[in-house]
Amino acid sequence: MRVAGMAAAVIIGMSASVSRAAEASPAAKPPMGWNSWNHFAAKIDDATVRAQADAMASNGMRDAGYRYINIDDTWEGERDARGVIHPNARFPDMKALADYVHSRGLKLGIYSSPGPKTCAGYAGSQGHEVEDAQTYAAWGIDYLKYDLCSLGDAMRAVGSMEKAQDIELAAYERMHAALQATGRPIVYSLCQYGFSQVWRWGGSVGGNLWRTTGDIEDKFPRMVQIGFGQAGLSKYAKPGQWNDPDMLEVGNGGMTPTEYRTHMSLWALLAAPLLAGNDLSAMSPDTLAILTNRDVIAIDQDPAGHQGDRVKAEGPLETWARPLSGGGVAVGLFNLSDLPAYLDVNFADLGIAGAAEARDVWAAKDLGPLIRYRTLVPAHGVSLLRLTAAGR
Ligand code: GAL
Repeated sequence: MRVAGMAAAVIIGMSASVSRAAEASPAAKPPMGWNSWNHFAAKIDDATVRAQADAMASNGMRDAGYRYINIDDTWEGERDARGVIHPNARFPDMKALADYVHSRGLKLGIYSSPGPKTCAGYAGSQGHEVEDAQTYAAWGIDYLKYDLCSLGDAMRAVGSMEKAQDIELAAYERMHAALQATGRPIVYSLCQYGFSQVWRWGGSVGGNLWRTTGDIEDKFPRMVQIGFGQAGLSKYAKPGQWNDPDMLEVGNGGMTPTEYRTHMSLWALLAAPLLAGNDLSAMSPDTLAILTNRDVIAIDQDPAGHQGDRVKAEGPLETWARPLSGGGVAVGLFNLSDLPAYLDVNFADLGIAGAAEARDVWAAKDLGPLIRYRTLVPAHGVSLLRLTAAGR
């Protein structure tokens, strides 16, 4: 009995410290914000970043939970004789920019590479990890996306998978240690396109999130390939450590509103980071409504932090479900075909005993207590439901 009691105490102690660690993490929930790359790519500057912060702070996004304003590649300038990196002329004063973003109740993110060069050919952090982390902290940076890029050349050159992996892990760990040493909470976002099952080791090098795929594009087939390719990864996500199927394309113009709702729904079921990738200073009411739908965001940010997964695929008709805190379940009935199609789901197949209160999230409509649901889903569309066991 005493031994069992002690074991239980140890287990309770351990789980308490695990949840304390997750709470203390700057990414206890999937990060929400904006990133410059998908819309602006290399055409990003100080004024544009300020305009995004102004928009996020005033259009309802900040109130809906969006926080990070992330500058991607092409901000970098030269290193000085002491090895300190400076921004290029398009970012005259990074500290002043961070102060501005912070004054709007938001946080600022930045981008670098563990290699000598970033993917766009700018200065990377190799050999300067400590200086760069110190510089970011001094500027007031809150988030770093660390993109493999040219380190891949060094990895290919060693000629063995094992040695390449050693180089990669050491490089990611080096920046992690440098960030930790600053004492500033900085979200650490790994980007190496999902090679070598990063979901198995991303957390061990301090990653709060890791890209699981190559780059998204603002096209339905590419979004589908990336998003629905996440099947099987749910067990690798938890509070503080998330799978990242890349940033959102909602509002960039290459998909229909129906397709963007499919994109947003799937990302919420996947507990994916919600990093808007459009121009926040010039978006349609439709786009804003998709990005700020409170019920969808509540699914993405569910405090239990369980990632959803595929339950069933029947050709182009797929059912995905995500367990929620309090015994609820979020369900997506996806129709990836080019014609409308009926989809149905028995709630018992999702582990729900008896009836559940069902809410159609995008229609913002309570459907009442049900044990199953059947509905016509438009081509490329989704029916997203939130189920709560009846009587709770
Ligand atoms: C890619 C990365 C993109 C973007 C780009 C910038 O490797 O996947 O998300 O950061 O580099 O050069």
